[in-house]
Amino acid sequence: MSALRLRLATPADADAIAAIYNDAVWNTTATWALEPVDAAERRRWLQAHPPDRHPVVVAEQDGQVLGWGALSPHSQRGGWARTVECSVYVDPAARGAGIGSRLLDHLCHLGGQAGHEAALALISADNAASLRMCRREGFFPAGRLLRVGHKFGRTLDLVLLERFLRRRAGAVVRDAAGRVLLLRREHEGRTWWAVPGGGVEAGETPEEAARRELLEETGLEVELGALGYRVFRHGRLQLYYAATVRRVVSRGGQGPEYAPERLATSGTYTPEWMEPQALAGRPAVPPPLVAALARGDAWPATPETVYDEPEPVGTWNRDGDSAQV
Ligand SMILES: CC(C)(COP(=O)(O)OP(=O)(O)OC[C@H]1O[C@@H](n2cnc3c(N)ncnc32)[C@H](O)[C@@H]1OP(=O)(O)O)[C@@H](O)C(=O)NCCC(=O)NCCS
Repeated sequence: MSALRLRLATPADADAIAAIYNDAVWNTTATWALEPVDAAERRRWLQAHPPDRHPVVVAEQDGQVLGWGALSPHSQRGGWARTVECSVYVDPAARGAGIGSRLLDHLCHLGGQAGHEAALALISADNAASLRMCRREGFFPAGRLLRVGHKFGRTLDLVLLERFLRRRAGAVVRDAAGRVLLLRREHEGRTWWAVPGGGVEAGETPEEAARRELLEETGLEVELGALGYRVFRHGRLQLYYAATVRRVVSRGGQGPEYAPERLATSGTYTPEWMEPQALAGRPAVPPPLVAALARGDAWPATPETVYDEPEPVGTWNRDGDSAQV
C-alpha cells in the first residue's frame, strides 16, 4: 500500500469528489444540501476554485481518492476577501484514520500562504467527528445559530468555528541550570520581555520558522523538542516549542530585527537568560505562556491551547466533540 498523498485536485477528480460528497448528502447532516451533485457540476465548482486563492485538495492512496477538502470564499463582498470557509469530506470506509485532520491542516497551511487570515467552519451541531477534527486543528467556537437547519425531519443548530491562519512560531530555550532565554525589549521608554519567535513565512514549517527566528534573534542554533503551547493572540496562532542550545553561531542576534532602521521603529532586542520565577509580575509576552513558566508548570505532554486575545465566545467541552456557545 502506498503512502497517503495530498495534492491539488484536477478535473479528473470530479467523479470521486462528487461520490464522496453525495454519500454525505444522502446519509449525514454534515452538509444541509438535499440534492446530490454530478461530476459536471463539480468540474464547474473546481473551475471557480483557483488553486492560489481557493484551493481544492484531495487525499490519494494507491491511485484512489479517499477524501477531499476545499477553501471557498465565505462571501463575495470585498471585505471578506481574506476569510475562507473550509469543507472536508472523507470516504466513509476511510474515516477515523487521520485523513480528515491532514486535509484540514494542509488546507489551513495553503490558506495562510494564499494571504488569507481567517478560516471559518460551519458545522451542524450534531456532527461530533467534524467538531473534533476542527478542534484538533486549532479552530475555536465563535457562535451558535439555533434551529437554522432542517434535514431528515430534524431541526438542526449550526456551530460557527474560526481559526486564525497567520502563524507565529517560537521556542522556550532552557540551559542546563533551567534558566530560560528571553529577549529584553526596550522601546520609547518601555521595557518588556518576549519569548523569542516570529512569523512563519511562506514555504516554511513552524519548526523551521522557530529555528530561524531563534538564530536571527539570539545568534543560537537550537534543537527543538515538543510543541507545548498553541496561543491565540493578536489574530495569530502562535506555536511554542521546547528547545535547547545546540551551537552558538554569533554573539547576539544578526537578523532583520537588528538592522538600524528596525531598531529605530521597533526598539532594541537583548537576549537574556532568566530564572523562570523571575518572570512573575514582569511585563512579558505572550502572557499565558510566561505565566506558566513563572509558575514552574511542567512542559505539557500534549500541546495546550490558550486563548489570549481575543477571548472566544464559546468553549469546547472536555471531549472536544461539542461546544458551549
Ligand atoms: C468529519 C470527517 C471529515 C473527519 O474525517 P476523518 O478522517 O474521519 O477524521 P480523523 O480520523 O482525522 O479524526 C479527527 C478527529 O475526529 C475524531 N473522530 C473521528 N470520527 C469520529 C466520530 N465518528 N465521532 C467522534 N469523533 C470522531 C477523531 O478521534 C479525531 O479526534 P482526536 O484526534 O481528538 O481523537 C469525516 O468524518 C467525514 O467525512 N464526515 C462526513 C463529512 C463531514 O462531516 N465533513 C465536515 C463538514 S465540512
